[in-house]
Amino acid sequence: MSTNKGPDGSGLRTTPPLARALACWLAALVFGLQAPALLAKDPQTLYMMECQGCHLSDGAGGLNNIPTLKNNVANFPAVAGGREFLVRVPGVALSTLSDQELADVLNWMLRQFGPLEATALYPPYTGKEVASLRKQPLDDVVGTRAGLVAQMVESGLIAAPQHQNQPQH
Ligand code: HEC
Repeated sequence: MSTNKGPDGSGLRTTPPLARALACWLAALVFGLQAPALLAKDPQTLYMMECQGCHLSDGAGGLNNIPTLKNNVANFPAVAGGREFLVRVPGVALSTLSDQELADVLNWMLRQFGPLEATALYPPYTGKEVASLRKQPLDDVVGTRAGLVAQMVESGLIAAPQHQNQPQH
């Protein structure tokens, strides 16, 4: 009565080594193609490549009338017109970065340089918003900035006017 003809496993090897090798190769290929793209979009790397030469790694600026981002830049979007200003300044609007990359760098920059408490007052930039704002370059950077700084003083975001940070033209 040897009717038990159940499978003994000999016919069930459905994972041939070639298929496994192919799967591994595909995974490696996909990862290999994506890794450089992911690195290129890291906002800190973009800042280092496109902005740090003038603004310095800690945002201190200072040379050649380059304003100090450190502990100041995040106050801009907290006052009327300041959000637009940060995209419309020439170094940002005319950068070679894509709209989305620029939004990522700006959002990174605001958190990185702060003041952090000011960033709670507004939502992050989007690529779409940057796309429309960067098409409207500023005519009067110095005058616009002075008006924004005055608003910051009025609303108590900063204690006193920061004349030393204003670019001179
Ligand atoms: C060639 C030097 C240079 C580069 C590169 C540069 N900037 Fe600037 N940036 C300036 C100067 C100078 C100003 C002052 C305004 C002006 O004269 O355009 C400024 C102003 C700014 C401001 C306004 C800050 C304030 O307090 O008024 C922001 C924000 C800014 N830059 C961000 C960036 C970002 C982000 C990048 C990279 C995508 C960048 N900049 C690249 C020189 C530069």
